[in-house]
Amino acid sequence: MPTDKKPEFFKGTQLKVAIIGCGYVGLPLALRFAEAGHKVTGFDTDPKKIHMLNAGKSYIEHIQQNKIQQYVNSRHFHATSDFSKLSEADAIIICVPTPLDEYRQPDLSYVENTAKSIQPHLQKGQLVVLESTTYPGTTEELVLPVLEKSGLRCPIASGPESENVQVDFFLAFSPEREDPGNKQFGLAQIPKVVGGVNPPSGRAAQALYAQVVARVVPVSSTKVAEMAKLLENIFRCVNIALVNELKLLCQRMGVDVWEVIDAAASKPFGFMPFYPGPGLGGHCIPVDPFYLSWKAREYDFSTRFIELAGEVNTAMPYHVVDSIAEALNHHKKSLKGAKLLILGVAYKKDVDDLRESPTLKIMEILQERGAEFEYNDPYFPQLHKMRRYDYSHMKSVPLNAQTLSKYDAVIIATDHSSYDYAAIVDAAKLVIDTRNATRRVIRHREKIFPC
Ligand SMILES: NC(=O)c1ccc[n+]([C@@H]2O[C@H](COP(=O)([O-])OP(=O)(O)OC[C@H]3O[C@@H](n4cnc5c(N)ncnc54)[C@H](O)[C@@H]3O)[C@@H](O)[C@H]2O)c1
Repeated sequence: MPTDKKPEFFKGTQLKVAIIGCGYVGLPLALRFAEAGHKVTGFDTDPKKIHMLNAGKSYIEHIQQNKIQQYVNSRHFHATSDFSKLSEADAIIICVPTPLDEYRQPDLSYVENTAKSIQPHLQKGQLVVLESTTYPGTTEELVLPVLEKSGLRCPIASGPESENVQVDFFLAFSPEREDPGNKQFGLAQIPKVVGGVNPPSGRAAQALYAQVVARVVPVSSTKVAEMAKLLENIFRCVNIALVNELKLLCQRMGVDVWEVIDAAASKPFGFMPFYPGPGLGGHCIPVDPFYLSWKAREYDFSTRFIELAGEVNTAMPYHVVDSIAEALNHHKKSLKGAKLLILGVAYKKDVDDLRESPTLKIMEILQERGAEFEYNDPYFPQLHKMRRYDYSHMKSVPLNAQTLSKYDAVIIATDHSSYDYAAIVDAAKLVIDTRNATRRVIRHREKIFPC
C-alpha cells in the first residue's frame, strides 16, 4: 500500500526535519528550520561537530554561536551521528560534499554513502531531498535506486497525467544557493528551485521549503533543478575566465581593466560586472562545472566553454607568480630566495574558508621556484592539513609596520576588509595587488604592482 500522506502534510507545523551534513550548507539550513518552529536533528559523521553543536558552539565563522545555543536550549535543534534516528523524521535533507577526485572526476561517494545510511531507516511517507550540487541525473540514477532497495517505491514520472501518481516516499532535488559572507542575501531571502522525481514529490518539497524561504520556484523534474544550479555556477566560472583573460590583454596594452569594468558596469541593462583575481576558489565555482563536463561525455558531448574557462582560470596563480617575479626584477631581485609575505589565504574576502583557495596554489608554485614566504590571515591563525596541501607548520604572522618592512614584497591575495591598505603600502617595500585592493591608496603608489 502506497503512503496516504499528502504532499500538503509538509505545510504543517512542528515537522521533524533531519539535515544530513552539518557544514556550510546544512548548518544554516538546520537553524533556519529551527527558527521556523520545526524540530530539527543535524546528522554528521564528524563527532567533533556533533559535540560542538550539542554544546551550542559554532565552528563556522559567520554562524553565530548564540543562535545554535538558543535552538539547542529550546530543544528545536540537536545533533547526532546515530543514523537510526532518521526513521523518526518527516523530511530528510542531504547536504553532504560533492568534490572532485584526484582525476578531477565527480566524487559522489558522500552522496552514495548517505543514501545507503538512509535506506535501512527509510519510512513510508518520508520526504528525502538532495541539496548537494551535482550533475543532472544524480537524484534519479544514484539516490533513488539505493533508497528503493528498502522495498519502498517512488516512481519517476512527469506531466499532468502523473499529478497524483502513487508513491511510498517522496524524493526531490533542491540546490543550495548559499553565498557565505553575503550580508544582503541570507537563506530566507534567496528563492529556492525545487524539482521532484514525480509531481507529488515536487509538491511535498515545495510545501516544506515554502515555510523557510521567501519564494519557491517549482520545476518539472530533478534533472532541471540539478542543471539550473550548474548553469548558475558555470555562468560565474565562464564570466570570471573572460575578465581574467581580458585583464592579461589589458596589462599588455597598458589599460586598467578595473576602470574598464567599472565603466562598462554603468550600462543599466545587458551587462553584469565580474572581476579578475588570482584564480578561482571556494567549494563551488572551481568544482561544479566539471560535474557537467564529466556527465556530458556520456552523451559524446564536449563542454568547450567549461574546459576553456577552466584553462584560463587555472593559469591565473601561475600568472600571479610570474608577476611577483617581474615586480622583484624591477627591484633587481630574483624570485629565488626572495622573502615574501602573502596577505589572505581564504578563497575570498571576509570568510574563514580556504577550500580550493588560489593562495594555496600560489604558495605551492612559489615553493617550487625557491621563494621564501610567510602569510597573514585574520581568519586563519594557523593552517591545517588539507587533502592536497600540507601547510600545517605555518602560522599567521602579526601585521605591523615592522614586520611588513622585513619582506622583499607583500602580495595581496585576498582583499579582507579588515586590512588597512594605506598602512600596508606605507610600510612595505613592494606590494603586488591581485585584487585591486589598493585602488584608494594615495601615498606611495610607485610601490604598487597591479597583477
Ligand atoms: N559552501 C557553499 O557555499 C555551497 C553553496 C552552494 C552549494 N554547496 C553544495 O552543498 C554541498 C555541501 O557543501 P558544504 O559547503 O556544506 O560542505 P561542508 O564540507 O561544509 O559540509 C559537509 C558536511 O557533511 C558531513 N558529511 C560528510 N559525509 C557525510 C555522511 N556520509 N553523512 C553525514 N554527514 C557527512 C561533513 O562532516 C561536513 O560536516 C556540496 O554539494 C556543495 O557543492 C555549497
